[in-house]
Amino acid sequence: MDSCKAILEQIDTLIDRGGAACLKDLCGVLQRERPHYNWVGFYFVEGEELVLGPFVGAPSPHVRIPLGKGICGAAVAERQTVVVADVNADLRYLACSLETKSEIVVPIEHGGHILGEIDIDSHTPDAFGTDDRALLEEIARRLAPVLAEKAAARRQL
Ligand code: SME
Repeated sequence: MDSCKAILEQIDTLIDRGGAACLKDLCGVLQRERPHYNWVGFYFVEGEELVLGPFVGAPSPHVRIPLGKGICGAAVAERQTVVVADVNADLRYLACSLETKSEIVVPIEHGGHILGEIDIDSHTPDAFGTDDRALLEEIARRLAPVLAEKAAARRQL
């Protein structure tokens, strides 16, 4: 899809540039290019928890999520993308905003380990289709080696 290609080009530029603001800017690109992405953020696996990283959108009360909890925890447990068309009908859902109607969570995997995930909420019911999933999984693939390198560098500090 052409719009996906244009988004991926912008993402590649951000990844090449690197720097502290890279992930936050990446969230901004996604929100700007895909208006149904109302909240876009990263969670990172730290021990037995997911810890909120850079995001755009309303502040979330879920700064730390135990690995077994929420849609976010389910994506790690299942080691695959989880798409929820109606969050209010899903018992796993941890509410972030009353306006949220649907959600997609895409794990970022490297070398057999889940490093974190991309989490997107939409105010539109059933907002995420196969093109969204393909786009976000491709972004996760491109980010994985970069995030793995950062994690390794942190461990050496
Ligand atoms: N809804 C998520 C929690 C995180 S917020 O969407 C930012 C979940 O159920 O895991």
